[in-house]
Amino acid sequence: MAGRDRIVHLLRQLERTACRCPAHSHTFHQGAAAAGDRKTDYAFEMASSNIRYGAGVSVEVGMDLQNLGAQNVCLMTDRTLTRLPPVQAVLESLVRNRVRFQVFDDVRVEPSDSSFKEAISFAKKDSFDVFVAVGGGSVIDTCKAANLYSCHPDADFLDFVNAPIGKGRPVTRTLKPLIAVPTTAGTGSETTGVAIFDYEPLKAKTGIASRALRPTLGIVDPLHTLSMPERVAANSGFDVLCHALESYTALPYSQRAPCPTNPINRPAYQGSNPISDVWSRHALSVVSKYMKRAVRDSEDLEARSSMHLASVFAGIGFGNAGVHLCHGMSYPIAGNVKTHTARGYSVEHPLVPHGLSVVLTAPAVFSFTAPMCPERHLEAAEILGADVRQVKRADAGAVLADTLRRFLFDLQVEDGLGAVGYHKDDIPALVKGTLPQERVTKLSPRAHTEEDLSRLFETSMKLY
Ligand SMILES: NC(=O)c1ccc[n+]([C@@H]2O[C@H](COP(=O)([O-])OP(=O)(O)OC[C@H]3O[C@@H](n4cnc5c(N)ncnc54)[C@H](O)[C@@H]3O)[C@@H](O)[C@H]2O)c1
Ligand SMILES: [Fe+2]
Repeated sequence: MAGRDRIVHLLRQLERTACRCPAHSHTFHQGAAAAGDRKTDYAFEMASSNIRYGAGVSVEVGMDLQNLGAQNVCLMTDRTLTRLPPVQAVLESLVRNRVRFQVFDDVRVEPSDSSFKEAISFAKKDSFDVFVAVGGGSVIDTCKAANLYSCHPDADFLDFVNAPIGKGRPVTRTLKPLIAVPTTAGTGSETTGVAIFDYEPLKAKTGIASRALRPTLGIVDPLHTLSMPERVAANSGFDVLCHALESYTALPYSQRAPCPTNPINRPAYQGSNPISDVWSRHALSVVSKYMKRAVRDSEDLEARSSMHLASVFAGIGFGNAGVHLCHGMSYPIAGNVKTHTARGYSVEHPLVPHGLSVVLTAPAVFSFTAPMCPERHLEAAEILGADVRQVKRADAGAVLADTLRRFLFDLQVEDGLGAVGYHKDDIPALVKGTLPQERVTKLSPRAHTEEDLSRLFETSMKLY
């Protein structure tokens, strides 16, 4: 007991002598109290896939599969990409390295629960030991789901889907290795443990989020982005823009509740944090410098390569910090689509592409969230080219919104939700589809009511 008393005495002394200034106030006492009785979190965790980057680097994928000892590989892609250089390059590498594989090219562009299930049943029919996804977020997400459920053959589809739509069960088994070769710039899905799909019964997107879903390796080969049509480059670039902006302005991790009692329950999307901030801010500066060039000139390798890297940077940022209202509100915008056809996309179904569905509400959202952290909104506006030297903090939201509107106008984005087929009468359905998106909307720095969401949708009907 004497030993124990001595330790307690020493801890008290340390606490008393610890620096009390706000910047260095993490004393022993705070650490010890952390896990048990806190309401909000006190820690964050960074997760990301291994990333290999280089022009032409996908020639190495066959060797990677050999190195993994792969006996039976499942390669997933979509119908358009099957005919294009990215898939051809990967297939050549597999053949050259005598890798045994089967191809599933029926991935739906912007997958749904039923298209996920088709891919899952393909994966379950054989015993694949490695998965390879060559495509945009649609392909990579579908492949993550196929890997997850083929490793949990008895699980119900909703078991791992985010609560409250699904059961949000944690993934406890190790999945098969997955190599992701992204062809858009883009979702950052090659870095994240997230798989998004349109849940048809709700007419809104949702997803599965677990660090266990992360690809083992992301092979980022910028040559693959050269075949992206202009609108795919624009819309996937807007996704990068919003990943960066939303993660940088998300609720700080230390204000997110509840504090998990076991680290396995700490969500992948944890709130803004000092490490994500670095990635998100840098991604934003690359978007600012290169996105317009990358959209306008498909042969501008420097710009397209830079955007490919920016999608990785933003992926690492938002994959750990999360996104908030633009994404939460985009899920019913995509899910309730009626007849809108996406310019430049070779798909048969009506579609508001993900990046477009996200960015159309961005001016309204950031005007709304700015009062909670005006400095960050001003900094974002400045990175995107605004002169903020004389701007008052109270005007941060308006300045960022104007900067975004100009950016969207320059890139010929549709003039608001009205231009993709929505009317005022649709707002209740859009709000209803946003309410279950708590996993992301709870990360909004500003609390919001249903009326606030209605107003944000209404303001986004017309942009210019
Ligand atoms: N998992 C995540 O972390 C995450 C993050 C953001 C978005 N998403 C999801 O990703 C999906 C969107 O993915 P996306 O924006 O990458 O696009 P996508 O995968 O839906 O592809 C869009 C279109 O572009 C074509 N395409 C892709 N790459 C091409 C290339 N190099 N050359 C020519 N055509 C090409 C595709 O065939 C398709 O027709 C959505 O379902 C979205 O919800 C996931
Ligand atoms: Fe996104």
